[in-house]
Amino acid sequence: MTDTLSDAVSRPEVPDFPMARAAGCPFDPPPALQALREEGPLAKVRLWDGSTPWLVTSYAEQRALLADPRVSADVTRPGFPSPAPRPRNSSLSFILMDDPEHARQRRMVQATFTVRRVESMRPAVQKIVDDLLDELLAGPRPVDLVEAFALPVPSLVICELLGVPYADHDFFQDNSKTIIRRSATPEQRAEAGARLNEYLDELVGRKLAEPGDDLLSRVAERVTSGELTRRQAAQMGVLLLIAGHETTANMIALGTLALLRHPDQLALLRESDDPKLVAGAVEELLRYLNITHNGRRRVAREDIEIAGRTIRAGEGIILANDIGNRDPEVFPDPDELDLRRDARRHVAFGFGVHQCLGQPLARMELQVVYSTLYRRIPTLRLATDLERIPFKHDGAVYGVYELPVTW
Ligand code: HEM
Repeated sequence: MTDTLSDAVSRPEVPDFPMARAAGCPFDPPPALQALREEGPLAKVRLWDGSTPWLVTSYAEQRALLADPRVSADVTRPGFPSPAPRPRNSSLSFILMDDPEHARQRRMVQATFTVRRVESMRPAVQKIVDDLLDELLAGPRPVDLVEAFALPVPSLVICELLGVPYADHDFFQDNSKTIIRRSATPEQRAEAGARLNEYLDELVGRKLAEPGDDLLSRVAERVTSGELTRRQAAQMGVLLLIAGHETTANMIALGTLALLRHPDQLALLRESDDPKLVAGAVEELLRYLNITHNGRRRVAREDIEIAGRTIRAGEGIILANDIGNRDPEVFPDPDELDLRRDARRHVAFGFGVHQCLGQPLARMELQVVYSTLYRRIPTLRLATDLERIPFKHDGAVYGVYELPVTW
Protein backbone atom coordinates (compact mmCIF):
# COMPACT_ATOMS: atom_id res chain seq x y z
CA MET A 1 0.00 0.00 0.00
CA THR A 2 1.33 3.43 -0.86
CA ASP A 3 0.22 6.82 0.37
CA THR A 4 -0.40 9.81 -1.89
CA LEU A 5 -0.40 13.53 -1.27
CA SER A 6 -4.19 13.80 -1.63
CA ASP A 7 -5.14 11.16 0.92
CA ALA A 8 -2.55 12.38 3.41
CA VAL A 9 -3.69 15.99 3.11
CA SER A 10 -7.33 15.08 3.58
CA ARG A 11 -6.54 13.64 7.01
CA PRO A 12 -7.51 16.23 9.58
CA GLU A 13 -4.72 15.37 12.01
CA VAL A 14 -1.68 16.50 10.01
CA PRO A 15 0.40 18.14 12.76
CA ASP A 16 2.07 21.52 12.45
CA PHE A 17 5.83 21.68 12.04
CA PRO A 18 8.08 22.75 13.70
CA MET A 19 6.85 21.46 17.02
CA ALA A 20 7.51 22.87 20.48
CA ARG A 21 9.99 21.37 22.92
CA ALA A 22 8.64 20.36 26.33
CA ALA A 23 9.03 22.95 29.09
CA GLY A 24 12.11 22.22 31.17
CA CYS A 25 13.62 19.84 28.56
CA PRO A 26 15.75 22.19 26.46
CA PHE A 27 17.98 19.44 25.04
CA ASP A 28 15.33 16.98 23.89
CA PRO A 29 13.47 17.03 20.56
CA PRO A 30 9.76 17.96 20.87
CA PRO A 31 7.59 15.22 22.41
CA ALA A 32 5.18 15.43 19.42
CA LEU A 33 8.10 14.59 17.14
CA GLN A 34 8.97 11.60 19.29
CA ALA A 35 5.32 10.49 19.13
CA LEU A 36 5.35 10.74 15.32
CA ARG A 37 8.46 8.58 15.15
CA GLU A 38 6.68 5.89 17.09
CA GLU A 39 3.99 5.80 14.39
CA GLY A 40 6.46 5.09 11.58
CA PRO A 41 9.44 6.49 9.72
CA LEU A 42 7.45 8.90 7.50
CA ALA A 43 4.55 11.23 8.26
CA LYS A 44 2.99 14.32 6.77
CA VAL A 45 3.32 17.65 8.58
CA ARG A 46 1.90 21.10 7.91
CA LEU A 47 4.17 24.12 7.45
CA TRP A 48 3.59 27.85 7.98
CA ASP A 49 2.32 28.20 4.35
CA GLY A 50 -0.18 25.33 4.61
CA SER A 51 1.95 22.96 2.54
CA THR A 52 2.25 19.36 3.76
CA PRO A 53 5.69 17.90 3.10
CA TRP A 54 6.87 14.52 4.36
CA LEU A 55 8.69 14.42 7.65
CA VAL A 56 11.21 11.59 7.96
CA THR A 57 11.96 10.60 11.55
CA SER A 58 14.02 7.40 11.32
CA TYR A 59 17.79 7.44 10.99
CA ALA A 60 17.97 4.79 8.24
CA GLU A 61 15.43 6.47 5.95
CA GLN A 62 17.01 9.87 6.56
CA ARG A 63 20.41 8.66 5.40
CA ALA A 64 18.90 6.80 2.44
CA LEU A 65 17.07 9.92 1.24
CA LEU A 66 19.97 12.33 1.86
CA ALA A 67 22.16 10.09 -0.29
CA ASP A 68 19.52 9.73 -3.03
CA PRO A 69 20.19 11.74 -6.22
CA ARG A 70 16.43 11.90 -6.87
CA VAL A 71 16.24 14.29 -3.92
CA SER A 72 16.97 17.97 -4.56
CA ALA A 73 18.29 20.75 -2.29
CA ASP A 74 17.33 23.41 -4.83
CA VAL A 75 15.30 25.89 -2.89
CA THR A 76 13.81 27.41 -6.08
CA ARG A 77 12.03 24.18 -7.10
CA PRO A 78 8.25 24.16 -6.61
CA GLY A 79 7.36 22.12 -3.54
CA PHE A 80 10.57 22.92 -1.63
CA PRO A 81 9.60 23.04 2.08
CA SER A 82 10.96 26.47 3.07
CA PRO A 83 11.19 27.05 6.83
CA ALA A 84 9.91 30.62 6.39
CA PRO A 85 8.79 32.97 3.59
CA ARG A 86 11.75 33.34 1.26
CA PRO A 87 12.95 36.78 0.35
CA ARG A 88 13.27 37.36 -3.40
CA ASN A 89 16.78 37.20 -4.87
CA SER A 90 18.15 35.44 -1.82
CA SER A 91 20.82 32.82 -2.12
CA LEU A 92 23.02 30.89 0.22
CA SER A 93 25.29 29.62 -2.50
CA PHE A 94 25.98 25.94 -3.12
CA ILE A 95 24.26 24.63 0.03
CA LEU A 96 20.96 25.21 -1.82
CA MET A 97 22.04 23.88 -5.23
CA ASP A 98 22.19 20.45 -6.84
CA ASP A 99 25.04 18.70 -8.57
CA PRO A 100 26.82 19.22 -10.87
CA GLU A 101 26.91 22.97 -10.05
CA HIS A 102 26.92 22.28 -6.30
CA ALA A 103 29.90 19.91 -6.61
CA ARG A 104 31.76 22.28 -8.94
CA GLN A 105 31.55 25.16 -6.46
CA ARG A 106 32.13 23.01 -3.36
CA ARG A 107 35.33 21.60 -4.86
CA MET A 108 36.74 25.12 -5.17
CA VAL A 109 36.92 25.51 -1.40
CA GLN A 110 37.12 22.01 0.01
CA ALA A 111 40.94 21.75 0.17
CA THR A 112 40.90 24.31 3.00
CA PHE A 113 38.74 22.04 5.16
CA THR A 114 40.63 18.74 4.97
CA VAL A 115 41.57 17.19 8.32
CA ARG A 116 45.26 17.84 7.62
CA ARG A 117 44.82 21.52 6.82
CA VAL A 118 42.56 22.00 9.79
CA GLU A 119 44.99 20.23 12.16
CA SER A 120 47.70 22.71 11.14
CA MET A 121 45.43 25.44 12.55
CA ARG A 122 45.03 23.79 15.97
CA PRO A 123 47.82 25.76 17.74
CA ALA A 124 46.39 29.06 16.48
CA VAL A 125 42.90 28.07 17.67
CA GLN A 126 44.33 27.04 21.05
CA LYS A 127 45.90 30.49 21.34
CA ILE A 128 42.62 32.22 20.48
CA VAL A 129 40.86 30.17 23.18
CA ASP A 130 43.61 30.76 25.78
CA ASP A 131 43.69 34.52 25.14
CA LEU A 132 39.91 34.85 25.37
CA LEU A 133 39.90 32.90 28.64
CA ASP A 134 42.69 35.10 30.06
CA GLU A 135 40.53 38.11 29.31
CA LEU A 136 37.41 36.49 30.69
CA LEU A 137 39.12 35.49 33.94
CA ALA A 138 40.49 38.99 34.39
CA GLY A 139 37.07 40.61 33.84
CA PRO A 140 33.94 41.03 35.95
CA ARG A 141 31.54 38.21 36.79
CA PRO A 142 28.96 37.02 36.09
CA VAL A 143 29.60 37.21 32.39
CA ASP A 144 27.63 36.22 29.30
CA LEU A 145 29.56 33.27 27.91
CA VAL A 146 27.98 33.71 24.45
CA GLU A 147 29.23 37.27 24.04
CA ALA A 148 32.58 36.83 25.80
CA PHE A 149 33.62 33.44 24.46
CA ALA A 150 31.25 31.27 22.40
CA LEU A 151 30.77 33.76 19.55
CA PRO A 152 34.30 35.23 19.43
CA VAL A 153 36.08 31.83 19.15
CA PRO A 154 34.58 30.66 15.82
CA SER A 155 34.24 34.23 14.52
CA LEU A 156 37.95 34.89 15.01
CA VAL A 157 38.80 31.55 13.40
CA ILE A 158 36.61 31.98 10.31
CA CYS A 159 37.75 35.62 9.88
CA GLU A 160 41.37 34.51 9.91
CA LEU A 161 40.66 31.68 7.50
CA LEU A 162 38.61 33.73 5.05
CA GLY A 163 40.57 36.96 5.37
CA VAL A 164 37.63 38.95 6.77
CA PRO A 165 38.55 41.77 9.23
CA TYR A 166 37.43 40.71 12.73
CA ALA A 167 36.82 44.39 13.52
CA ASP A 168 33.62 44.02 11.46
CA HIS A 169 32.28 41.22 13.69
CA ASP A 170 29.29 43.13 15.11
CA PHE A 171 28.13 43.85 11.56
CA PHE A 172 28.34 40.29 10.25
CA GLN A 173 27.15 38.61 13.45
CA ASP A 174 24.02 40.79 13.62
CA ASN A 175 23.14 40.29 9.96
CA SER A 176 23.78 36.53 10.14
CA LYS A 177 21.42 36.30 13.11
CA THR A 178 18.66 38.05 11.17
CA ILE A 179 19.07 35.74 8.17
CA ILE A 180 18.66 32.59 10.23
CA ARG A 181 15.90 33.86 12.54
CA ARG A 182 12.66 32.23 11.45
CA SER A 183 10.61 35.04 12.96
CA ALA A 184 12.37 37.74 10.91
CA THR A 185 10.19 39.08 8.08
CA PRO A 186 11.21 38.28 4.47
CA GLU A 187 12.06 41.99 4.10
CA GLN A 188 14.34 41.96 7.16
CA ARG A 189 16.08 38.84 5.88
CA ALA A 190 16.38 40.26 2.36
CA GLU A 191 17.96 43.44 3.73
CA ALA A 192 20.39 41.56 5.98
CA GLY A 193 21.32 39.27 3.06
CA ALA A 194 21.84 42.24 0.75
CA ARG A 195 24.07 43.96 3.31
CA LEU A 196 26.22 40.85 3.75
CA ASN A 197 26.42 40.26 -0.01
CA GLU A 198 27.47 43.85 -0.57
CA TYR A 199 30.08 43.58 2.16
CA LEU A 200 31.52 40.34 0.78
CA ASP A 201 31.41 41.72 -2.76
CA GLU A 202 33.52 44.66 -1.67
CA LEU A 203 35.94 42.33 0.12
CA VAL A 204 36.24 40.13 -2.99
CA GLY A 205 37.06 43.32 -4.89
CA ARG A 206 39.83 44.11 -2.41
CA LYS A 207 41.22 40.55 -2.68
CA LEU A 208 41.22 40.85 -6.47
CA ALA A 209 43.32 44.01 -6.20
CA GLU A 210 45.53 42.80 -3.34
CA PRO A 211 45.40 39.03 -2.85
CA GLY A 212 46.44 37.66 0.54
CA ASP A 213 47.06 34.17 1.91
CA ASP A 214 43.41 33.51 2.71
CA LEU A 215 40.43 31.59 1.39
CA LEU A 216 38.58 34.60 0.02
CA SER A 217 41.63 35.51 -2.08
CA ARG A 218 41.61 31.98 -3.50
CA VAL A 219 37.88 32.32 -4.26
CA ALA A 220 38.62 35.69 -5.94
CA GLU A 221 41.17 33.91 -8.19
CA ARG A 222 38.24 31.90 -9.57
CA VAL A 223 36.65 35.16 -10.61
CA THR A 224 39.81 36.16 -12.47
CA SER A 225 39.92 32.76 -14.18
CA GLY A 226 36.27 33.08 -15.20
CA GLU A 227 35.09 30.06 -13.15
CA LEU A 228 32.87 32.16 -10.87
CA THR A 229 31.05 35.43 -11.32
CA ARG A 230 31.81 38.04 -8.71
CA ARG A 231 28.28 37.65 -7.39
CA GLN A 232 28.79 33.88 -6.94
CA ALA A 233 32.09 34.53 -5.17
CA ALA A 234 30.43 36.97 -2.76
CA GLN A 235 27.57 34.53 -2.10
CA MET A 236 30.07 31.78 -1.35
CA GLY A 237 31.80 34.12 1.08
CA VAL A 238 28.50 34.82 2.83
CA LEU A 239 27.78 31.08 3.16
CA LEU A 240 31.21 30.33 4.61
CA LEU A 241 31.09 33.29 6.98
CA ILE A 242 27.64 32.46 8.38
CA ALA A 243 28.09 28.67 8.49
CA GLY A 244 31.56 29.11 9.96
CA HIS A 245 30.62 31.02 13.09
CA GLU A 246 26.95 30.73 14.05
CA THR A 247 26.82 26.92 14.26
CA THR A 248 30.00 26.36 16.27
CA ALA A 249 29.13 29.26 18.61
CA ASN A 250 25.85 27.57 19.46
CA MET A 251 27.58 24.25 20.08
CA ILE A 252 30.00 25.94 22.50
CA ALA A 253 27.30 27.69 24.56
CA LEU A 254 24.60 25.00 24.44
CA GLY A 255 27.22 22.27 24.95
CA THR A 256 28.45 24.06 28.05
CA LEU A 257 24.92 24.37 29.39
CA ALA A 258 24.28 20.66 28.75
CA LEU A 259 27.49 19.75 30.57
CA LEU A 260 26.68 22.03 33.52
CA ARG A 261 23.35 20.17 33.78
CA HIS A 262 25.18 16.80 33.69
CA PRO A 263 27.96 17.32 36.26
CA ASP A 264 29.13 13.68 36.13
CA GLN A 265 29.77 14.04 32.39
CA LEU A 266 31.43 17.41 32.84
CA ALA A 267 33.75 15.86 35.44
CA LEU A 268 34.81 13.20 32.91
CA LEU A 269 35.86 15.88 30.48
CA ARG A 270 37.50 18.14 33.06
CA GLU A 271 39.50 15.35 34.63
CA SER A 272 40.77 13.63 31.49
CA ASP A 273 43.59 14.68 29.23
CA ASP A 274 42.87 11.87 26.79
CA PRO A 275 42.31 13.41 23.32
CA LYS A 276 40.20 10.37 22.38
CA LEU A 277 37.77 11.03 25.21
CA VAL A 278 37.55 14.70 24.19
CA ALA A 279 36.98 13.78 20.53
CA GLY A 280 34.27 11.29 21.57
CA ALA A 281 32.66 13.92 23.81
CA VAL A 282 32.43 16.32 20.86
CA GLU A 283 30.65 13.68 18.75
CA GLU A 284 28.25 12.82 21.55
CA LEU A 285 27.39 16.47 22.21
CA LEU A 286 26.84 16.99 18.47
CA ARG A 287 24.49 13.98 18.43
CA TYR A 288 22.67 14.84 21.63
CA LEU A 289 22.16 18.55 20.93
CA ASN A 290 21.74 18.44 17.14
CA ILE A 291 21.58 22.21 16.84
CA THR A 292 20.32 22.25 13.22
CA HIS A 293 16.89 21.44 14.65
CA ASN A 294 14.66 22.41 11.72
CA GLY A 295 15.62 19.40 9.67
CA ARG A 296 17.40 19.09 6.36
CA ARG A 297 15.04 20.41 3.68
CA ARG A 298 14.65 18.76 0.28
CA VAL A 299 12.17 18.19 -2.56
CA ALA A 300 11.67 15.01 -4.61
CA ARG A 301 12.55 15.32 -8.31
CA GLU A 302 11.02 11.92 -9.10
CA ASP A 303 8.68 9.49 -7.40
CA ILE A 304 10.54 7.66 -4.62
CA GLU A 305 9.34 4.46 -2.96
CA ILE A 306 10.54 4.26 0.62
CA ALA A 307 9.37 2.44 3.76
CA GLY A 308 6.17 1.33 2.01
CA ARG A 309 5.25 4.87 0.95
CA THR A 310 5.56 6.86 -2.27
CA ILE A 311 7.03 10.32 -2.13
CA ARG A 312 5.73 11.93 -5.32
CA ALA A 313 7.86 14.12 -7.57
CA GLY A 314 7.48 17.70 -6.38
CA GLU A 315 6.67 16.80 -2.76
CA GLY A 316 8.73 18.39 0.00
CA ILE A 317 10.79 16.28 2.39
CA ILE A 318 12.10 17.25 5.82
CA LEU A 319 14.75 14.99 7.31
CA ALA A 320 14.47 15.58 11.06
CA ASN A 321 18.05 14.84 12.05
CA ASP A 322 17.46 15.79 15.70
CA ILE A 323 15.07 12.85 16.16
CA GLY A 324 17.25 10.73 13.82
CA ASN A 325 20.08 11.17 16.30
CA ARG A 326 17.81 9.83 19.04
CA ASP A 327 16.91 6.66 17.10
CA PRO A 328 17.11 3.77 19.61
CA GLU A 329 17.90 1.31 16.78
CA VAL A 330 21.21 3.11 16.28
CA PHE A 331 22.00 4.68 19.66
CA PRO A 332 21.01 2.64 22.73
CA ASP A 333 19.43 4.83 25.46
CA PRO A 334 19.42 7.68 22.96
CA ASP A 335 18.12 10.29 25.40
CA GLU A 336 21.11 9.84 27.72
CA LEU A 337 24.10 12.16 27.32
CA ASP A 338 26.94 9.65 27.53
CA LEU A 339 30.33 11.07 26.56
CA ARG A 340 31.86 7.60 26.46
CA ARG A 341 29.55 6.20 23.78
CA ASP A 342 30.62 5.86 20.17
CA ALA A 343 28.40 8.52 18.58
CA ARG A 344 30.37 8.97 15.35
CA ARG A 345 27.50 7.83 13.13
CA HIS A 346 25.34 10.82 14.10
CA VAL A 347 23.73 12.96 11.41
CA ALA A 348 24.31 16.33 13.10
CA PHE A 349 26.47 17.32 10.11
CA GLY A 350 23.88 15.98 7.66
CA PHE A 351 24.67 13.18 5.20
CA GLY A 352 25.22 12.76 1.47
CA VAL A 353 26.63 15.33 -0.93
CA HIS A 354 25.73 18.31 1.24
CA GLN A 355 27.29 16.87 4.38
CA CYS A 356 28.93 19.71 6.30
CA LEU A 357 32.02 20.97 4.50
CA GLY A 358 33.37 22.59 7.67
CA GLN A 359 33.05 19.55 9.94
CA PRO A 360 36.79 18.96 10.46
CA LEU A 361 37.12 22.62 11.47
CA ALA A 362 34.06 22.53 13.75
CA ARG A 363 35.31 19.33 15.41
CA MET A 364 38.78 20.75 16.02
CA GLU A 365 37.44 24.03 17.44
CA LEU A 366 35.07 22.17 19.77
CA GLN A 367 37.81 19.78 20.89
CA VAL A 368 40.05 22.72 21.79
CA VAL A 369 37.21 24.51 23.59
CA TYR A 370 35.85 21.52 25.53
CA SER A 371 39.33 20.41 26.59
CA THR A 372 40.33 23.89 27.77
CA LEU A 373 37.32 25.80 29.15
CA TYR A 374 36.35 23.50 32.05
CA ARG A 375 39.95 22.84 33.06
CA ARG A 376 40.82 26.52 33.12
CA ILE A 377 37.60 27.33 35.02
CA PRO A 378 36.85 24.20 37.06
CA THR A 379 34.23 25.97 39.19
CA LEU A 380 32.30 27.32 36.18
CA ARG A 381 28.57 27.45 36.95
CA LEU A 382 25.35 29.03 35.78
CA ALA A 383 24.68 32.48 37.19
CA THR A 384 20.92 32.19 36.67
CA ASP A 385 18.11 29.61 36.71
CA LEU A 386 17.57 27.37 33.71
CA GLU A 387 14.06 28.88 33.32
CA ARG A 388 15.54 32.33 32.71
CA ILE A 389 17.84 31.27 29.87
CA PRO A 390 16.56 32.44 26.46
CA PHE A 391 16.66 29.56 23.96
CA LYS A 392 16.75 29.98 20.18
CA HIS A 393 13.48 28.19 19.47
CA ASP A 394 12.91 30.49 16.49
CA GLY A 395 16.32 30.12 14.88
CA ALA A 396 17.48 27.90 12.01
CA VAL A 397 20.21 26.89 14.46
CA TYR A 398 19.25 26.00 18.04
CA GLY A 399 21.18 27.34 21.00
CA VAL A 400 21.00 30.04 23.65
CA TYR A 401 20.92 33.78 23.11
CA GLU A 402 22.73 34.34 26.40
CA LEU A 403 24.44 32.16 28.98
CA PRO A 404 25.22 34.03 32.21
CA VAL A 405 27.98 32.17 34.05
CA THR A 406 30.21 32.72 37.02
CA TRP A 407 32.94 30.80 38.89
C1 HEM B 1 29.16 22.43 15.04
C2 HEM B 1 29.15 23.15 13.97
C3 HEM B 1 28.43 22.83 12.69
C4 HEM B 1 27.28 22.11 12.47
C5 HEM B 1 26.41 21.40 13.49
C6 HEM B 1 27.04 22.13 11.03
C7 HEM B 1 25.98 21.49 10.41
C8 HEM B 1 25.81 21.42 9.04
C9 HEM B 1 24.78 20.64 8.38
C10 HEM B 1 23.70 19.82 9.08
C11 HEM B 1 24.95 20.80 7.05
C12 HEM B 1 24.13 20.12 5.93
C13 HEM B 1 23.10 21.01 5.32
C14 HEM B 1 22.13 20.25 4.44
O1 HEM B 1 22.29 19.06 4.19
O2 HEM B 1 21.15 20.86 4.01
C15 HEM B 1 26.06 21.70 6.84
C16 HEM B 1 26.53 22.12 5.63
C17 HEM B 1 27.57 23.03 5.47
N1 HEM B 1 28.40 23.53 6.46
FE1 HEM B 1 28.29 23.12 8.42
N2 HEM B 1 28.02 22.86 10.44
C18 HEM B 1 28.91 23.29 11.39
C19 HEM B 1 30.06 24.03 11.21
C20 HEM B 1 30.50 24.51 10.01
C21 HEM B 1 31.71 25.29 9.82
C22 HEM B 1 32.71 25.67 10.92
C23 HEM B 1 31.78 25.60 8.51
C24 HEM B 1 32.91 26.39 7.90
C25 HEM B 1 32.80 27.24 6.95
C26 HEM B 1 30.63 25.00 7.84
C27 HEM B 1 30.32 25.08 6.50
C28 HEM B 1 29.30 24.39 5.88
C29 HEM B 1 29.05 24.46 4.45
C30 HEM B 1 29.82 25.28 3.43
C31 HEM B 1 27.97 23.60 4.19
C32 HEM B 1 27.31 23.31 2.84
C33 HEM B 1 27.86 22.03 2.26
C34 HEM B 1 27.25 21.65 0.94
O3 HEM B 1 26.14 22.06 0.62
O4 HEM B 1 27.92 20.93 0.19
N3 HEM B 1 29.88 24.35 8.80
N4 HEM B 1 26.59 22.05 8.09
